[in-house]
Amino acid sequence: MMKLLTWAILSPVLLANSGLGAKFPLSSLKGAKTLPGNIVPNRFVVEVESTSDIPTRRDTFPRDPHKSLYEDLRKRDISFNVDREFNSPGLFVGASVTLSNAKVNSYLISVTYPLTIHADMQDRAQVAAMPGVKAVRPVIQVPAPKPVSAHVVTSLTDPALPPDTESTHVLTGVDKLHAMGVIGTGTTVAIIDTGIDYTHPSLGDGFGPGHKVVGGFDFVGDAFDGTNTPMPDPDPLDQCNGHGTHVAGIFGANPGNEFNISGVAFGADIRAYRIFGCTGTVPDDIIIEALLQGVSDGVDILTMSLGGADGWTESSSAVVSSRIAATGKIVTIAAGNDGADGAFYTSSPGNAINAISVASLDNTVIPLQNATVHGVTHDPITYFDTFPLPVNGTLPIFATSTDTTIVDDACDPLPDDTPDLSGFVVIVRRGTCTFVQKLTNIAAKGGQVTLIYDNGSGFEEIDVGNFTDATLIQAADGVFLVNAFAAGENVSLSFPQSGALFQFPDPAGGLISSFTSIGPTNDMFFKPAVAAPGGNILSTFPVPLGSFAVLSGTSMATPFIAGVGALLFGAKGKSPEVGTTARTLFETTAQLVGSSHTDGDPLQTVAQQGAGLVDAFKALTTDIIVSPGELLTNDTAHFVSLHTFTITNIGNEVKKFNITHVPAGTVLTLTPFPGGRPSPAFNGLRHRQI
Ligand SMILES: *[C@@H]1O[C@H](CO)[C@@H](O)[C@H](O)[C@H]1NC(C)=O
Ligand SMILES: *[C@@H]1O[C@H](CO)[C@@H](O)[C@H](O)[C@H]1NC(C)=O
Ligand SMILES: *[C@@H]1O[C@H](CO)[C@@H](O)[C@H](O)[C@H]1NC(C)=O
Ligand SMILES: *[C@@H]1O[C@H](CO)[C@@H](O)[C@H](O)[C@H]1NC(C)=O
Ligand SMILES: *[C@@H]1O[C@H](CO)[C@@H](O)[C@H](O)[C@H]1NC(C)=O
Ligand SMILES: *[C@@H]1O[C@H](CO)[C@@H](O)[C@H](O)[C@H]1NC(C)=O
Ligand SMILES: *[C@@H]1O[C@H](CO)[C@@H](O)[C@H](O)[C@H]1NC(C)=O
Ligand SMILES: *[C@@H]1O[C@H](CO)[C@@H](O)[C@H](O)[C@H]1NC(C)=O
Repeated sequence: MMKLLTWAILSPVLLANSGLGAKFPLSSLKGAKTLPGNIVPNRFVVEVESTSDIPTRRDTFPRDPHKSLYEDLRKRDISFNVDREFNSPGLFVGASVTLSNAKVNSYLISVTYPLTIHADMQDRAQVAAMPGVKAVRPVIQVPAPKPVSAHVVTSLTDPALPPDTESTHVLTGVDKLHAMGVIGTGTTVAIIDTGIDYTHPSLGDGFGPGHKVVGGFDFVGDAFDGTNTPMPDPDPLDQCNGHGTHVAGIFGANPGNEFNISGVAFGADIRAYRIFGCTGTVPDDIIIEALLQGVSDGVDILTMSLGGADGWTESSSAVVSSRIAATGKIVTIAAGNDGADGAFYTSSPGNAINAISVASLDNTVIPLQNATVHGVTHDPITYFDTFPLPVNGTLPIFATSTDTTIVDDACDPLPDDTPDLSGFVVIVRRGTCTFVQKLTNIAAKGGQVTLIYDNGSGFEEIDVGNFTDATLIQAADGVFLVNAFAAGENVSLSFPQSGALFQFPDPAGGLISSFTSIGPTNDMFFKPAVAAPGGNILSTFPVPLGSFAVLSGTSMATPFIAGVGALLFGAKGKSPEVGTTARTLFETTAQLVGSSHTDGDPLQTVAQQGAGLVDAFKALTTDIIVSPGELLTNDTAHFVSLHTFTITNIGNEVKKFNITHVPAGTVLTLTPFPGGRPSPAFNGLRHRQI
């Protein structure tokens, strides 16, 4: 059964299950769900043969391919409007058109000669049947993410560049390449997204030649929502959405900021192609236009943190992306955030056959804040917020109950003898009613600053509604505070506004993010290909929206691989051969990722981790080149049983190889319960093909 396409920017979703027994939902960020009906009625991308495709048939198609298409349409009395033209011979020649009698009744018509013509053809089918028409595909509407709120932090005055200790860079060897001076200099990436806030100090504080963001284009304008008329302009600034700014920082933020973060390839240039307005969707013909513009502007790498569940490799933007990758540019595309939907649910255009579809790995740390304890000797208390609670001074604590096992703390209005809580940090236990209900009862007594302690082993971002000065702490810290309060000790807390950022070790860190879409494609291509850190990622955000934010999604993993691509081009030269072999190199040097941190558990299924976590240092320094990186058995009626691979030693030393295999987990493709959904699950072991 076919899945309808829904394309969204792939950030933010439920974060992975952690060993703390909790999820980390970033409550303000909702992932895209597959919605039917995102096909734009009556609009199609028509691909035609360009004259250069058919040199021996110039007599048959002597005319301009666009004019020829329009004349053929008129001859058939098909009424149409041209929305956009594409003219990149070798990549894509055609137009997006609106037909008046198109009747959307199937997903794709691909035309080959000779044609079979049915009597009851709609206009769309007639178009597909016209000479010179290669394919007719519907225009797809792509949803965008909701903007995210974030707190402003003050900037650090010391511009000294510390060593690269960023957790995601250490995980992938990017820190070692930075130490060697490999930072992607001389390469250019196209970031096709919501635009970039290039006024951000870490993103070059300017636009145009000489700046980090050297150029770009805004195909849509702020007010574009996917249904109204795009208002293109040359300035791809985004200060209203933020997604593209976060993506840009992961790729190439300059070091020397207050969080000591940098992009993977901060020596590279960026071109920003803005295809989303502040809110709303975008039709995919604009994605194609942006891709072709990037190519004609001469970029080396194109990255797209967007897409939606598809399963097939044939959408217009997937086809164009794949062709661009085949020319030797590195094209990185998010694998999708539909992991909860089970196998065979990969995303398009990430399915583009020659592109690199990127899976997400949860960061090993979560950037959180510490509160300082006064009055007794005690370690700082970590609370679940990336930015400090905006609280000045040192406040005494007040516990709404001295019973540390109470199940419904503050679920009812607080007793009449409760003091005015406005000068306290209120301590309350999780459980029974919602956080907002507890906070409402506390606010009724004047309480503003509240720490909710967990009732088990959870630690996560919680939904506190409009109560911005409330957050979660771990159970043990809450029990300590309540016991100290009950014992009459003079305990108070303060919330340092700088210097209290703590890289909290995430017990689930280092595993594949559960939201990563699970492959393979329905036509048995190996997607996702490779993983990069994408869960709990701190990066740049538009200055008016807070300057920095933590987001999660395959959207965050994708620019990381684009950055590694820039390091590769920077180190090995920008030849097409380097570009076309990049995916294989990343795959064959990747680090295998387990399904848990428990010894003896199998590796995570390759249908979700791909070949594993990218190892940028190994990819750029290996002496051993293995190719191909994927043995596509096409285990269908078209099973391919014989595969060959080559191992090339480009080093100076003779090497011996021992060929072996490593088992990995598999994934159930059929649901065990009637009416249930297919779900990822381990079912014995299967041999990993290497
Ligand atoms: C940034 O790095 C410097 C030098 O290594 C260190 O002193 C400082 O604490 C770091 N700041 C953060 C926020 O990690
Ligand atoms: C934050 O608190 C944790 C737990 O007490 C402690 O281990 C860590 O050193 C603290 N870090 C900072 C920067 O205060
Ligand atoms: C905290 O103090 C600073 C400096 O005195 C002031 O600007 C800020 O508004 C205060 N914040 C709150 C939440 O009281
Ligand atoms: C904690 O509270 C939640 C919400 O009321 C509840 O579902 C859960 O069972 C509680 N956990 C424990 C260990 O009491
Ligand atoms: C938050 O405030 C907004 C605007 O005042 C209001 O519409 C909304 O209901 C509030 N939400 C909660 C959870 O209190
Ligand atoms: C309690 O602690 C606060 C802050 O450390 C201090 O200002 C106050 O004097 C103390 N009160 C008593 C009664 O010790
Ligand atoms: C599997 O075979 C079918 C039929 O030939 C083909 O369309 C598809 O692309 C093949 N898939 C792979 C991964 O080679
Ligand atoms: C090759 O690897 C296998 C599995 O690890 C091992 O049993 C075998 O002894 C190795 N052979 C050689 C020659 O190292």
